[in-house]
Amino acid sequence: MIVMKKLVVGNWKLHGSRAFNAELIQGLLAADLAATAPRADVAVCPPFVFLSDVAAALQGSAIAVGTQDLSVQAQGAFTGEVSGPMVREFGAKYAIVGHSERRSYHAESDQLVADKAKAALSHGLIPIVCVGETLAEREAGQTEAVVGRQLKAVIDTLGEQLSQIVVAYEPVWAIGTGKTASPEQAQAVHAFLRAQLRSAQAQAAGVPLLYGGSVKPDNAAELFAQADIDGGLIGGAALKAADFAAIARAA
Ligand code: PGA
Repeated sequence: MIVMKKLVVGNWKLHGSRAFNAELIQGLLAADLAATAPRADVAVCPPFVFLSDVAAALQGSAIAVGTQDLSVQAQGAFTGEVSGPMVREFGAKYAIVGHSERRSYHAESDQLVADKAKAALSHGLIPIVCVGETLAEREAGQTEAVVGRQLKAVIDTLGEQLSQIVVAYEPVWAIGTGKTASPEQAQAVHAFLRAQLRSAQAQAAGVPLLYGGSVKPDNAAELFAQADIDGGLIGGAALKAADFAAIARAA
């Protein structure tokens, strides 16, 4: 049996400064994740403006870099956008697309998110597609309907490329709130997503499924032990080198 590595991705959101990032990276490099967290592939996603600095500081390390969003366009008159070819030049490997903060504050539709995933793949980036329900949707028994609808747009848009993505299940009610989905709650949704991917395309059953939402050093191991949880997308705890390293080691 192939033992798949876990994938642990830090989403720095709108945080950081050159000084803050330098200290955070120093802490991450000192943690020597290649040696201390050999079962984790690790990446960090800083704001676009820091991508160049962060990629340079992490060059040659075991930590990859990604972006928090991506334009669907490659170039053109699209003020304020940043494209796949641009971030590839600075060494980005991953692009988070469809984070709930983008879906809600920037009105990103399921189809736009799917198109961003396609754009990422077409420029050699691995899209980390986020899906997740709000508290009201969960309480209304709509969790599977919502994540199923969000994932379906991606399945329909990517076709053959579906197996090349990463999916992150991030219940909106657990993001930044300190409320983590229980391992059982997360596993149930991950199993649902796995089945949906498998039935769309046999090969896509192997798509890594990350859990995100208040992952911390003290709950990571239990979450990562679930059958269909292949890693984590980490917000707040990714801003502390010791916490992020501990989460990677929990893999
Ligand atoms: P959190 O954020 O870990 O701070 O809850 C996770 C995310 O939004 O990716």
